[in-house]
Amino acid sequence: MHILLVFYSRTGRTRALATTLGQALGIPATELTDARARIRGMAGFVEAAMGALLGRLPALAQGAPDPQRYDVVIVASPIWLGRLANPMRSWLHQHNGRVARLVVVATSGSGKMPAGAWADASKLSGAGLLTSTCIGEAVIDQGKGDDPVRYFAQSLQQKISTLKPQSGAA
Ligand SMILES: Cc1cc2nc3c(=O)[nH]c(=O)nc-3n(C[C@H](O)[C@H](O)[C@H](O)COP(=O)(O)O)c2cc1C
Repeated sequence: MHILLVFYSRTGRTRALATTLGQALGIPATELTDARARIRGMAGFVEAAMGALLGRLPALAQGAPDPQRYDVVIVASPIWLGRLANPMRSWLHQHNGRVARLVVVATSGSGKMPAGAWADASKLSGAGLLTSTCIGEAVIDQGKGDDPVRYFAQSLQQKISTLKPQSGAA
């Protein structure tokens, strides 16, 4: 099985989570970055919130991976206003019809996956959702995010072991 793990992170929490997940699955975690550098601090928060509110799909830096060769695509992203962060939404939209099966791993303030977030991700990518999880920012900030991530990785590996390859990659 070919598994792609891509993540977006503005302030580092999703990066930490994706790094642990990649290590648990034995695959690299590839970071998506904006084509235009984001403002930091409170102004950056406002910029991100405005983009989320307006549903903007910002340009990404060159070199983002093509998901078509993979049987399972895991996207790790913060939640912004009830949906995945806009740069991740951009990437999913860019690859509509090229994602075989989608796994959504989110981080959020509340630690709950908003009802519409994975449905939106599935619509943008055109892919069916295999499974999802969401981990709260406080859990990550307290350094307690690794255990739930490793547990999720184990259950994901079990699910993946029951699937048939779809990518056609050797
Ligand atoms: C613009 C913006 C909107 C957010 N909206 C939500 C939200 O709707 N629900 C929630 O629980 N957390 C929300 N958060 C909190 C982030 O999802 C959370 O802090 C996340 O862990 C940040 O990930 P990062 O450090 O990888 O960027 C929002 C954060 C930002 C910057």
